[in-house]
Amino acid sequence: EIHLFPQIKRVLCVAEKNDAAKGISHIMSNGGARRREGLSKFNKIYEYEYNLFGQNVTVTMTSVSGHLLGLQFKAQFQKWHSCNPVLLFDAEVEKYCPDTMVQIKRTLEKEARQCQALVIWTDCDREGENIGFEIIDVCKAVKPNIQVFRAKFSEITPNSIRRACETLMEPDVNISDAVDVRQELDLRIGASFTRFQTLRLQKIFPESLANQLISYGSCQFPTLGFVVERFKAIQAFIPETFYKIKVLHEVEEDAVEFSWKRNRLFNHTACLVLYQICMEDPIATVTSVTSKPKSKWRPLPLDTVELEKLASRKLRISAKETMKIAEKLYTQGFISYPRTETNIFPASLSLGPLVEQQTQSTDWGTFAQRVLDQPGGPNPRQGKNSDQAHPPIHPTKYTDTLQGNEGRVYEFIVRHFLACVSQDALGQETIVDIDIAQEKFSASGLMIIARNYLDVYPYDRWSTKVIPVYEQGSQFQPSAIEMVDGQTSPPQLLTEADLISLMEKHGIGTDATHAEHIETIKSRMYVGLTADQRFLPGELGMGLVEGYNSMGYEMSKPNLRAELEADLKLVSEGRKDKHSVLLHHIQKYKIVFIESVRKAKKLDEALSPYLGAAQEFTEAEQQDMEIPLPIRKCPHCSRDMVLKKKKEGNGMYLSCLGFPTCKTAVWFPDTVLEVSRDDSICPTCQPHPVHMLKFKFRRGSLPPMMPLEFVGCIGGCDETLREVLDLKYLRAGGGSAAKKPRTCGICHMPGHTRVTCPQR
Ligand SMILES: *[C@@H]1O[C@H](CO)[C@@H](O)[C@H](O)[C@H]1NC(C)=O
Ligand SMILES: *[C@@H]1O[C@H](CO)[C@@H](O)[C@H](O)[C@H]1NC(C)=O
Ligand SMILES: *[C@@H]1O[C@H](CO)[C@@H](O)[C@H](O)[C@H]1NC(C)=O
Repeated sequence: EIHLFPQIKRVLCVAEKNDAAKGISHIMSNGGARRREGLSKFNKIYEYEYNLFGQNVTVTMTSVSGHLLGLQFKAQFQKWHSCNPVLLFDAEVEKYCPDTMVQIKRTLEKEARQCQALVIWTDCDREGENIGFEIIDVCKAVKPNIQVFRAKFSEITPNSIRRACETLMEPDVNISDAVDVRQELDLRIGASFTRFQTLRLQKIFPESLANQLISYGSCQFPTLGFVVERFKAIQAFIPETFYKIKVLHEVEEDAVEFSWKRNRLFNHTACLVLYQICMEDPIATVTSVTSKPKSKWRPLPLDTVELEKLASRKLRISAKETMKIAEKLYTQGFISYPRTETNIFPASLSLGPLVEQQTQSTDWGTFAQRVLDQPGGPNPRQGKNSDQAHPPIHPTKYTDTLQGNEGRVYEFIVRHFLACVSQDALGQETIVDIDIAQEKFSASGLMIIARNYLDVYPYDRWSTKVIPVYEQGSQFQPSAIEMVDGQTSPPQLLTEADLISLMEKHGIGTDATHAEHIETIKSRMYVGLTADQRFLPGELGMGLVEGYNSMGYEMSKPNLRAELEADLKLVSEGRKDKHSVLLHHIQKYKIVFIESVRKAKKLDEALSPYLGAAQEFTEAEQQDMEIPLPIRKCPHCSRDMVLKKKKEGNGMYLSCLGFPTCKTAVWFPDTVLEVSRDDSICPTCQPHPVHMLKFKFRRGSLPPMMPLEFVGCIGGCDETLREVLDLKYLRAGGGSAAKKPRTCGICHMPGHTRVTCPQR
């Protein structure tokens, strides 16, 4: 419930783009808004009086240009060589305002100071909610007590804007949180893998990959994976020969082809035997003639994925271009919000007036009138999905002023809308079954009775198929009975529409991001397009997918990302907590990362068939490229601790990856000859997991009953080992990282331990 504050005189309204601010202002002010400049020349300020909260207020409407803030690593992690990429899973991140957005931010700060209330008018989806909170944070920083509201709308039309003003809400922080989680995971996962594979592969393939960025993204890779998988299926395809029997019957002008009920056989002898039996008695008997109504269904209300797929298939406009155009049509008030998963028209949306507007058109106006005149008026076919936020995509205003692809996309949306609220096409199908020597064949004909929606929807085809009149029980002599052969054919390379379907099916990205991910793998040259607009993987793309697949991690398979996407949805619905989701996925991808680094040679091997021989490296150089695996968390800064070689001598020490900021370290005494990481994990020590270490001690340095080689835990649970190694300071919360003077547990003198105490 919204409380009204009598002191509100000026209200700051902020839309997601200048076009939207302009459109909304035009509606709210009945065309009477005064325009002035802001600090950013692309984001104007519109002012007008409006009755809000039951009083006359002055509205200042302006806009941002998408996200106002970005997320980045803190300075010490930003340079590519600044740190081991594994650190990027834990490195501190911060929001920052990019240079291009600074003037917009300053405009908001300046205007907010003059206002008592702030109304967020960004697009009503996840990104929009998050942008809303960026605006709120910027404004509250200069005006802490500003009242904040959220306008909810799906169209920039007078009704919709008025309703939004009358039902202002609170912004939903959970929806915004989901975006924060996604941004942070994308940054950490993308940067760590991108740095790792780019730095490594540039070294290994200096000829082919010098200066090439080899980006990784947790959506990009599964998307690439689909393209590669299809390509490999085609390569692996072995065509098979099949055989079938075809029956032809020519009746005056018409030639009817009867198809075999067995469809096809892969055994030549078997088919030949049946064919010969038919040929011995080649008389056909009509066993049945059925005639029944058949409909071709009108399309479902249009959601984003369908719009992208159909535009790609029928209009040959890419998903990215389609969404850019749809976005523009929306901000201009021609169509409803184009990012929606809904394919059910809500009962509250009155369809009559929307159809009525389209009667003005010379192209489809007559059809729109037919829809209004049909019994019951507009009658949408209903789908099953609703995102509870936006209706299906539909026209909100008639126009005949659009040119080129904008005009084509608008026309498509209007025709689709009119088709879906009209009626299914009706026909009568006739099926004739015949029998020749016990083999069954059939043929069908189609008579179209009422084209209905097809009259307005040229993107679908349904053709009449003529079949002469046959009578049950009658016999005829076929004009020809033939045995023909053919070959099974491989699947085809994916089209953009196929790729979007796969992404949707496997939960990669959202309807808002499919097009971007596809664009990314194109721009990275991981895939190319054939002349008929199908996706073909490039050599680098093939090699990367094969390399990661051979590591056994499903990096290019959809599972990891799909789980993440599902968790984001739960965060946005307030059913899962932001921090736990973030931690869970960081941990999961970090494990995959560490393993990928460990098995990095497989990546080189997979790529060398495409990129030429891998550069050889000495063992020392190889080791340099490798990232040691974590033993445990640093009790002081929570980063990973890893085993490192001492600069001098052969000894090892345990070092915090936060070095030099964090100086926690365990220097093993000289009596430790060897120490290495064991795969086993201590069941008790915290914070989980603490890996066990494999030790080898110098002869005579341990009490006689202890073996010289054993696996032990340095997490604190192993009393003896703790004393031998003097591990007191590593206990969590155990004080400073500085080495404490060693004192003996028996005589409390420095210089030796309990084990080597002369008083024993
Ligand atoms: C708001 O302004 C309109 C006309 O501009 C006026 O008729 C109305 O009385 C005003 N309402 C209030 C509450 O001041
Ligand atoms: C093919 O069909 C013939 C005749 O039915 C049968 O004898 C033969 O075993 C079949 N061959 C194979 C490979 O199945
Ligand atoms: C937001 O999420 C929290 C749990 O994370 C939940 O308690 C709260 O009700 C949610 N808020 C809304 C508006 O859904």
